[in-house]
Amino acid sequence: MFDSLNSLVVILISGYALFARAHGAVRRADDFDVLKWVDPLIGSQGGGNVFAGATLPYGMAKAVADVDGQNTGGFSTDGSRITGFSAMHDSGTGGNPSLGNFPIFPQLCPGDDINNCKFPIGGRSTHYKADSIKAEPGYFGVTSENGIETDMTISEHAALFRFDFSKAVTGNGTSSPLIMLDLTDLWASRQNASLSVEEGSETGRIKGNGTFLPSFGAGSYILHFCLDLAGGKVKDSGVWVNDRAGTEPKDLHVTRGFNLFYLQAGGFLRFQGPLDGPVSARMGLSFISTDQACQNAENEIPGPTFDFDGLVKSAKEKWRKKLAPISITTGGVNDSMQVSFWSAIYRTMISPQDYTGENPHWRTDEPYFDSFYCIWDMWRVQLPFLTIMDPLTQSRIVRSLLDTYKHRGWLPDCSMSTNKGWTQGGSDADNVIVDAYVKKLTGIDWELAYEAIVNDAENEPLEWSIEGRGGLTSWKRLNYIPYLDFDPVGFGTNSRSISRTLEYSYNDFCLATLAKGLGKDTSTKYMSRAGNWQNIFKADQTSNINGTDSGFTGFFQPKYLNGTWGYQDPIACSPLAGWCSLTSNPSETFESSCWEYMFFVPHDIGEIVELLGGPETFLRRLDFFHTSGLADIGNEPVFLTVYMPHYAGRPALSAERAHSYIPSRFNSSYAGLPGNDDSGAMASFTMFASIGLFPNPGQNVYFIIPPFFESVNITNQITNKTATVRNINFDKEYKNIYIQKATLNGKAYTRNWIGHEFFTEGWTLELTLGDKESEWGTRAEDLPPSMSNGVMQMS
Ligand SMILES: *[C@@H]1O[C@H](CO)[C@@H](O)[C@H](O)[C@H]1NC(C)=O
Ligand SMILES: *[C@@H]1O[C@H](CO)[C@@H](O)[C@H](O)[C@H]1NC(C)=O
Ligand SMILES: *[C@@H]1O[C@H](CO)[C@@H](O)[C@H](O)[C@H]1NC(C)=O
Ligand SMILES: *[C@@H]1O[C@H](CO)[C@@H](O)[C@H](O)[C@H]1NC(C)=O
Ligand SMILES: *[C@@H]1O[C@H](CO)[C@@H](O)[C@H](O)[C@H]1NC(C)=O
Ligand SMILES: *[C@@H]1O[C@H](CO)[C@@H](O)[C@H](O)[C@H]1NC(C)=O
Ligand SMILES: *[C@@H]1O[C@H](CO)[C@@H](O)[C@H](O)[C@H]1NC(C)=O
Ligand SMILES: *[C@@H]1O[C@H](CO)[C@@H](O)[C@H](O)[C@H]1NC(C)=O
Ligand SMILES: *[C@@H]1O[C@H](CO)[C@@H](O)[C@H](O)[C@H]1NC(C)=O
Repeated sequence: MFDSLNSLVVILISGYALFARAHGAVRRADDFDVLKWVDPLIGSQGGGNVFAGATLPYGMAKAVADVDGQNTGGFSTDGSRITGFSAMHDSGTGGNPSLGNFPIFPQLCPGDDINNCKFPIGGRSTHYKADSIKAEPGYFGVTSENGIETDMTISEHAALFRFDFSKAVTGNGTSSPLIMLDLTDLWASRQNASLSVEEGSETGRIKGNGTFLPSFGAGSYILHFCLDLAGGKVKDSGVWVNDRAGTEPKDLHVTRGFNLFYLQAGGFLRFQGPLDGPVSARMGLSFISTDQACQNAENEIPGPTFDFDGLVKSAKEKWRKKLAPISITTGGVNDSMQVSFWSAIYRTMISPQDYTGENPHWRTDEPYFDSFYCIWDMWRVQLPFLTIMDPLTQSRIVRSLLDTYKHRGWLPDCSMSTNKGWTQGGSDADNVIVDAYVKKLTGIDWELAYEAIVNDAENEPLEWSIEGRGGLTSWKRLNYIPYLDFDPVGFGTNSRSISRTLEYSYNDFCLATLAKGLGKDTSTKYMSRAGNWQNIFKADQTSNINGTDSGFTGFFQPKYLNGTWGYQDPIACSPLAGWCSLTSNPSETFESSCWEYMFFVPHDIGEIVELLGGPETFLRRLDFFHTSGLADIGNEPVFLTVYMPHYAGRPALSAERAHSYIPSRFNSSYAGLPGNDDSGAMASFTMFASIGLFPNPGQNVYFIIPPFFESVNITNQITNKTATVRNINFDKEYKNIYIQKATLNGKAYTRNWIGHEFFTEGWTLELTLGDKESEWGTRAEDLPPSMSNGVMQMS
């Protein structure tokens, strides 16, 4: 009796849990489904390069239609042609397209003759019907102009595609549906590859491997696949090479031969038409082995009949759970703001990718994340956003960085497809780790972290183009990175002396912070190195624009080994004067100008305000920078400049600036991002502005502006406490964007910034708004800490 009563209680409780979940009992209206507000197609045009297909949060498998247009992330709504359907991608990156390995492609061969099918990419590519695209979290579908309907979903390491031939306009009911696989990737970087085809009566399996090149890195990687096809009676199968195919042999091995000639080749399988339903194609992937690729597929998407709908449902459930910690009351703002908001959160969890169990380089029990593409892009807002939204995952990400240090001897700086990527500036994993430290993430070995960061600060690697820092001899001897440095110790692109000096200064500040926290006596030394940026400030440098003096004096400039100044036009590398990267037009500043880098001293902005002539001149310069075309809002170094008025005692101007860019440059249209999303950096910029708290990562500081919604709640995963930012007098037209007064947990609050405890302790910040700037947050004691004024925030 007692026992059965007990189980009745259990049943009732789990019944309630189901009810609660189904009704989204997490502080939301019953009919609110957050996924209805997520549009994965935002950023699928205009250079956003967002991955628009089906993925789980941080998932390795990412299925989408690949196109021959803007295909860095696989698909684009640019109206180009579908070249195949593949299941590995990166999101928002620039430059070469990433991954897209082993695409498969459905077709009907005219006259049912295998040699009439189009195998090479140029012949087979097909336009899609623009109004047929269906993109939802965990699901992507599209219809080709030839009438073949394709849709897809995913698990962690496998994808499930469905090809419906029933409305195909070529062939007839008796035509034999063909699925082909191409041993290639989006960049055609394959070095060599193998496959074998196995044919059963009702199923077929094509498995194999290939060696490819990382899209922005060194070395090569091997990826394995295991494709299972089902849907009817098998007619025949075999391999194809160029535009010929045959049913014998069933194996194929291709390499790069004469002049690195690129052979187009792969496998195929045909079913006997007509079919009762779609062909299913289950694609398993692994960086370890072909067997593991098959196991991944079998474990995650069991056969013989594949539960497509169940997989979609479970993917959606995982996304709902990831988006659950945040809730808003909109205050009636335009729906497009909400679409922008939820879609942005979604995009912050596409990459980095959780490759735990798929690390081909070392065995470990620690998590293994990849697609840090690159940390230079991710440390400023994306990883800090995960720190508030998904701190348990962020802790695993940091552990993965440290495990990489442990096994490879260096923290990663950029990483994709398990390869080391090219370093853009400083050793920016340092900043990520110390941000986790000041925000008290749990489960991290801080002594190991200290060792790893000291390694970056003290030891120069032979190849500092992929890890660590270059020019450390000069850094230690001269206290800046010289223009045209003499550095026989290590090798890298001998450029970016200004931006590297600034970045290394901040890396050393972060290290000093950790050293101090851990009670190490090196803290003073690194704090002193954190001031090295001062050595490249040329106080009398002016800047002409269109032949006219801009009126602003004092810029960072290159300095030779002998201490003599070099010269870089302060507007060089700005949108007014052309692009500078590692390879195109390498300069003393990376991907941005001296104008923009003048504001990149995140630890001592108070001192920058003084150096540039005090708050008034500083603000005039900042305003000129943002309104003259010098600022590049589509690239990460600019982000912090939006909030710098906080350091000059004018938080109202930061709010104005944020509104000047959102939604005009960050919005819900397909071309609604100002630049590459960079794994979710543009997304996170939008998010932090929208919640009214913007980080200065590496420091326990968030700048306060009014959220873009009436109120925002965020529940912390570690403490389970809910933090609230609430606007009073909120107006949906955004005329009242000026804080008149604030309370924290009911008590008056005058600082224009707040620490991470706000989130972990679940505090409530209430902002009373008005339509004019007020005195709130303007006094010296209200400003965020800067190194030179001696306030080092280390709560
Ligand atoms: C369908 O196409 C095949 C191959 O072209 C042809 O042999 C057959 O007669 C066609 N059947 C019908 C019903 O048109
Ligand atoms: C495949 O290519 C990689 C990278 O070029 C090379 O190291 C490897 O030896 C090649 N393997 C075969 C079997 O050709
Ligand atoms: C790739 O597959 C071929 C053929 O099965 C096999 O000989 C080769 O060892 C595989 N390569 C790797 C790296 O597993
Ligand atoms: C935010 O949290 C507060 C306090 O827990 C609650 O009263 C309010 O309904 C929540 N708002 C939203 C939008 O979830
Ligand atoms: C909402 O925003 C969209 C997209 O920017 C715009 O087209 C529409 O006019 C706006 N609606 C209102 C009511 O302002
Ligand atoms: C310092 O070095 C630069 C570059 O080699 C040279 O142009 C300059 O004349 C040198 N200055 C002095 C004072 O030697
Ligand atoms: C410089 O000149 C160009 C072309 O005349 C003009 O479009 C631009 O606005 C000018 N820029 C500034 C900052 O004055
Ligand atoms: C949306 O953002 C894009 C990219 O920044 C911009 O070009 C476009 O004008 C914006 N659209 C609206 C309606 O503001
Ligand atoms: C937070 O909630 C989770 C899930 O309900 C639970 O496992 C965890 O122990 C809670 N943590 C705290 C600090 O209450």
